[in-house]
Amino acid sequence: DWYMSTFIEKAIAQIKEKIGNDKVILGLSGGVDSSVAATLVSKAIGKQLTCIFVDTGLLRKNEALQVMDTYAKNFDMNIKMVDASELFYKNLRGISEPETKRKMIGKLFIDVFTEEARKMSRDAKWLAQGTIYPDVIESSKEGHSSKTIKSHHNVGGLPEDLGFELLEPIRDLFKDEVRKVGRELGIPDKMIDRHPFPGPGLGIRVIGEVTKEKCDILREVDDIFISALHEADLYTKVQQAHVVLLPVKTVGVMGDNRTYEFVAALRSVDTVDFMTATASHLPWDFIDKVVNKIINEVKHVNRIVYDVTSKPPGTIEWE
Ligand code: XMP
Repeated sequence: DWYMSTFIEKAIAQIKEKIGNDKVILGLSGGVDSSVAATLVSKAIGKQLTCIFVDTGLLRKNEALQVMDTYAKNFDMNIKMVDASELFYKNLRGISEPETKRKMIGKLFIDVFTEEARKMSRDAKWLAQGTIYPDVIESSKEGHSSKTIKSHHNVGGLPEDLGFELLEPIRDLFKDEVRKVGRELGIPDKMIDRHPFPGPGLGIRVIGEVTKEKCDILREVDDIFISALHEADLYTKVQQAHVVLLPVKTVGVMGDNRTYEFVAALRSVDTVDFMTATASHLPWDFIDKVVNKIINEVKHVNRIVYDVTSKPPGTIEWE
């Protein structure tokens, strides 16, 4: 794509000029925006960039590994992995109200990231971020919207006293352009085509109180569903698919035995803008296979339901 390769050349030249010999840090989430920003900056200044990746314990199966594989190995980036999972699990104990959970997760994330950034602030002068054009518009509107349905948190809330200068190499791009730039940079399709993943992660997909045990169960179920979608060539045909773990146990039967285990819900939606959505009409034989695999392979889940609710009235996430 000629337009995108020109953008990349210019962006790299600009970053080089702006940064010179300075050091830069960047919060890498594995999402498309921060990944594309990181890759661009890394192409420009190599090891002068250090990415910080926070493992909140609320990530999907193998997510941290996948990020290290793609960006540290393939692109030779400096990535500092911070395992904060125990801190998250500990502070989420006893909390089941969705907004309270969201706020706690947001606060912990900022705390952990700030601490890492502070450690590096003697060295690094710049903070790079994957801000894109819609974020710029969104934050200029902040305070004008009449109702907040869910408090969204994304990185950006670093205290100003850390004194970083901001580097936002993709702030003029729309989402589809970010994806094109990412592909042009050689980021694998599997990373570029990833469905949106909310900032609070599995913390809002384990309904009610979040524990490591429940996150572990959800990771397994979600991985089976998502892998099956990839295998059946359905992943890119729906806009967002995920699994929700319910705080409900029901009775089932396996072999000759009674079981009493958790219920998980599969969610998949068709949408253009994520403001409205309809439940995907996934083929029934596909769902059948997925359900069988889950029940046979994942301990502590004995029943699967499929969420058929549109948005509105249902939101895409359950919390
Ligand atoms: P809802 O559940 O409001 O979700 O229908 C709409 C889209 O937003 C994603 N989502 C979030 N993304 N931080 C994010 O970055 C959040 O706190 C958050 N909450 C929901 C959701 O996954 C869907 O794509």
